[in-house]
Amino acid sequence: MDLNKLLSLLSDGEFHSGSELGELLGVSRTSIWKAVPSLEGLNVPIEVVKGKGYRIQGGLDLLDKNQILSILPCNIKERVNLDILLSHSSTNDYLSSLESPVGQTYHICLAEHQTAGRGRRGKEWISPFAKNVSFSASFLLGGGAEALSGLSLVVGVAVAKTLQALGLKNVGLKWPNDVFVGDKKIAGILLELSGEATTNWNVVCGIGLNVHMDERDGVVIDQSWCSISESIVIERNMVVASLLTQLVEVLESFKKDGFKVFMDEWAQFDILSGERVIVTPTGIEGRAVGVNMQGALLVKSADGECVINAGEVSVRKQ
Ligand code: BTN
Repeated sequence: MDLNKLLSLLSDGEFHSGSELGELLGVSRTSIWKAVPSLEGLNVPIEVVKGKGYRIQGGLDLLDKNQILSILPCNIKERVNLDILLSHSSTNDYLSSLESPVGQTYHICLAEHQTAGRGRRGKEWISPFAKNVSFSASFLLGGGAEALSGLSLVVGVAVAKTLQALGLKNVGLKWPNDVFVGDKKIAGILLELSGEATTNWNVVCGIGLNVHMDERDGVVIDQSWCSISESIVIERNMVVASLLTQLVEVLESFKKDGFKVFMDEWAQFDILSGERVIVTPTGIEGRAVGVNMQGALLVKSADGECVINAGEVSVRKQ
């Protein structure tokens, strides 16, 4: 039974009888009935009503490879390989388990649902079925250890620019790369590297972006968060195509010129600038005053200017 096809028939949010679904999929009514637990296993709530059939209340905004590819500009489309999975532990894990991409190509993985989505600092990342964008891109990056400076910040810039271009207001970046709308987090980025400075880095760049997540889905999240659909009406395929285009453009420019060409854009999105901050675990306190050419956070403290390469930054209310 092709679960993708069954989901796509049910994605309109209407009732469909078992015999209608069976006929369209070339299977028996019993096979449809037997597939229901598999859908429920993906956390897709299926309503079964005697005499009416099966329904997914509210419908689903499913990812569609052909639709995404049809929206991409030709110069982007020709450099990407796109895999869309129904469910996987983590899209980063999926790409890490494959051979590195060759040359200038980008291998992209999307999943409707992650069973073990990973955030930074060992946190869990919530990925309810067909609600958000769980996106990973793997690509090669040459240029030694210096080539990595600012990489995680420019990925944040790509996500922030995508959201702004889609029409969201008050988009901001919290160093190094948490993406906010106002004071609520809307996206997070997890970069994972393998390889060596002497050859090429194989970068797996994971982006989790909230699109249709509602209060019920996000009840376990321990910080304030928001979703794109609180601000605009949009389909996830369009979000993915915009994100992918922006990301490849930003990364190509970064590969050529490094972080320095993104410093102004970063500064425009920087929500910590001018704020009193505390950096953990060092305990450094002071006022955030932007980033340097390597993408490190600069904090003016009582002891002078500190250069912060890693750590968690929290804003201290005055
Ligand atoms: C963060 O903690 O802010 C980073 C979140 C990164 C989540 C994304 S979703 C796609 C990719 N797969 C994962 O398991 N994590 C990243």
